[in-house]
Amino acid sequence: MTIKLAVAGGNRGARFDQVLGGLEDQIELVAICDPSDEVRSRWTDGRPDLKAYSQFEDMVEDPGIDAIFIATPMLLHAGQALTALNAGKHVLSEVIAAATLDECHALVETVEKTGLTYMMAENYCYRREAMMIKNMADQNVFGDLTYAEGAYIHDCRDLMFNDDLTRTWRGGGTGITQSTRGNGYPTHSLGPVAQWLGINRGDRLARTTTFVTKSAARQEWARSVFPEGHVDAQDAAWAEFTDSATTLIETEQGRVICLRKDSASPRPHNMALHTLQGTRGAYMSGRFDGEQPLVWLDGVSTGVSPANFGYKGMARPSGQSNETHPEWQPLRDLSDKYEHPYWKELGEEAIQAGHGGGDYFVMYDFARAVTGEIEPPIDVYDAVTWSSIFPISIENVKRNGEPLDIPDFRNR
Ligand SMILES: NC(=O)c1ccc[n+]([C@@H]2O[C@H](COP(=O)([O-])OP(=O)(O)OC[C@H]3O[C@@H](n4cnc5c(N)ncnc54)[C@H](O)[C@@H]3O)[C@@H](O)[C@H]2O)c1
Repeated sequence: MTIKLAVAGGNRGARFDQVLGGLEDQIELVAICDPSDEVRSRWTDGRPDLKAYSQFEDMVEDPGIDAIFIATPMLLHAGQALTALNAGKHVLSEVIAAATLDECHALVETVEKTGLTYMMAENYCYRREAMMIKNMADQNVFGDLTYAEGAYIHDCRDLMFNDDLTRTWRGGGTGITQSTRGNGYPTHSLGPVAQWLGINRGDRLARTTTFVTKSAARQEWARSVFPEGHVDAQDAAWAEFTDSATTLIETEQGRVICLRKDSASPRPHNMALHTLQGTRGAYMSGRFDGEQPLVWLDGVSTGVSPANFGYKGMARPSGQSNETHPEWQPLRDLSDKYEHPYWKELGEEAIQAGHGGGDYFVMYDFARAVTGEIEPPIDVYDAVTWSSIFPISIENVKRNGEPLDIPDFRNR
C-alpha cells in the first residue's frame, strides 16, 4: 500500500521533501496546506499534480488523502490532529503534540475512538547515538538505570519576530509560547531518555517540577535590535518569558530525569545533550559539535569505579587491577556490537535524506505503523506524556516549584 500523504505547514514540512524522495514506494505526497501563497507556490512549482490548500479544514475533507503530517506552529498541533482524526485521516504530528492537559486527554480519547494511527515526529529519538543507547539499554548493558539528563540549548531569539517586527508564534504572538515561564519544548530532550528508561513500557513518569530563570538575554537582545521606546524594547514585554528552564521528573520506579531547555542564551547550540547512568555504566553525549559521545561500562571499558579500588582486597570485575582508574571510551568503539539495526541497514539512506537521519526514520516508521506492520514507536500515550511537561511546568512555576503529578494517560 502506498500512503497518500498531505503536509500541513510548508516550512518545517519542506525538510521532509527530501525524505519522501527516499520512501516513494511507501509514501506518495499528494497535497500541501499552508495559508501563505508564497510557501504554497514554493511546493507546487514544477509539480502540477500536487494539490495545494490554504485552509486545513478544506484539506481534511479530501478523500484522496490517507494521512496528514502536521508541521504547523506549535499551538495548532493538537487541534489540527483532532480535526484530521475525526475526518478519518492518520496523523503524524510535529513536536510538541499538545499544549494543555485538556488537549492531551482529547488526543488519547480520539485516537482510541477512531482506531487510526497517530504518531509524534520526535526525530531526536532516531538519532544514531540515541538509537544505539536504546539498543544497549534494552540489552541491560548499563544495568538498572537510575538517572538521565537531557538538554535542548538553541538560541532562537532571531525567530521571535517577523520582518515587519510583529511577533511570530515563537515570540508569543499567538499566546503561550515555547519560552513562556515553564519548559516549553521538552520532547527533544525527554523523548530519547524516556525510550531508554522504558517509560510507558514498564516505568512511568510520576511527578515533576520546573524552575525557570528570568528573561535576561532575551531582554538584552530585544533592546539591542529595537528602537528606543518600541514596546518590545521595554523589560515589561518579556516578564512572562524565561531564558532557561530546568525540569526534574521522578519516575514510578525511583529514577530521576533532569531536563534543561534554553532557547535564548547566547552560545553555540547543543540540541541533543544527554547522559544516562545505570548500576553498571554510564553514557555521556558530546558537549559540542564534533566531540565524541562516550561510555564507561563496568567490565568492558578500561578500569574499575573508585569504590572498588582494593575494597577488602577485591576488585570488580575480577581480572582487573584494583589500581586501574576508569576511563571513558568512545561509544563508536562498540558500534559493531550495539549499532541499532535501523542504522546498520538504512543509515546511508537516512543520512542522505538530511537533518542527521532522524527525519527519515520518523517517516519510515510512520509508514510502517499506518500499514499495520508495527505499533507507532512514539504513540499517542508517549506523545501526550512527554508533551504534558509543558502545561504542568507552567503550573509548577506559578506554584513556586511545587511538584505536581503527571497523569497516567494510558490508565485514565
Ligand atoms: N523536530 C524538529 O527537529 C523541528 C525542527 C523545526 C521545527 N519543528 C516544529 O515544527 C513546527 C513548525 O516549525 P517552523 O519552524 O516550520 O515554523 P514557521 O513559523 O517557520 O512555519 C510555520 C508554517 O506553518 C504555516 N501555517 C500557519 N498556520 C497554518 C495553518 N492553520 N495550516 C497550515 N499551515 C499553517 C505558516 O504559514 C508557515 O509556513 C513547530 O511546531 C516546530 O516546533 C520541529
